[in-house]
Amino acid sequence: MEVIIRPDANTATELVARLISDAIRRKPDLVLGLATGRTMERLYARLAQMHIEEKLDFSKLSTFNLDEYVALPTENRNSYRYYMNYHLFDKVNIDKKNTFLPDGCADNLDHECEKYERKIESLGGIDLQLLGIGADGHIGFNEPLSALRSRTRVKALSPATIAQNSPLFDDPAMMPRRAITMGVGTILDAKKIIMLVTGKSKAKILSKAIEGPISSMISASALQLHPKCVVITDEDAAECLQEKEYYRWIFANEPEWKIYQNT
Ligand code: GLP
Repeated sequence: MEVIIRPDANTATELVARLISDAIRRKPDLVLGLATGRTMERLYARLAQMHIEEKLDFSKLSTFNLDEYVALPTENRNSYRYYMNYHLFDKVNIDKKNTFLPDGCADNLDHECEKYERKIESLGGIDLQLLGIGADGHIGFNEPLSALRSRTRVKALSPATIAQNSPLFDDPAMMPRRAITMGVGTILDAKKIIMLVTGKSKAKILSKAIEGPISSMISASALQLHPKCVVITDEDAAECLQEKEYYRWIFANEPEWKIYQNT
């Protein structure tokens, strides 16, 4: 794992946007894993801007989202399908047929989860998975005690997640209590992972996840097992990290980061 600290949320987001756009330019038919949440809104706005200003081409891309609420119709503005259309897909030249999210309204949810896994496999797996982190350390909706080898399945949402996400609903009581999520094992199968974490509210959970022991209590800690995972954070979210100086040295000196120095 590598950790890169940028001065603020804008510069951290800009770096992630650059890494993603470079990956798309290198491989136009990239299979990109996507995340939702407030942190990603700024990133998707930036990618949409790159589409307009730099002709970043999404036409050959396939995408898989991490998760979707159960029993929330896609027209509901809190569904993750709605979120993705609104923040990214409607603003770029992606073919929506190649944008996949689990169907949380499917009649048979177990079958839907298996189908999702098979679809990812059929496209050769995820090349690059984007992640955020939840208040309880979840990635996707892999709540505490999610098995480190878990696959796409239905999860009951934790009280911390309900507290974090319910204010986004007009009526917080309407937030679903279950979601379909890629498993920790599904996420770890991605060839490369980028986790973007910004803001003071994430500082404690981030340090537990990346510098603490690997534990199913904090599913993001499983990223320590991944051979190609980079965590991009701002100073606020990095506040509790012990090895900050080392991470800063890496960004300033390692050859792979040279081209991003002015980002
Ligand atoms: C939701 C998503 C996660 C995301 C998290 C962070 O719970 N299921 O994939 O990482 O939100 O949200 P925010 O960026 O709003 O803190």
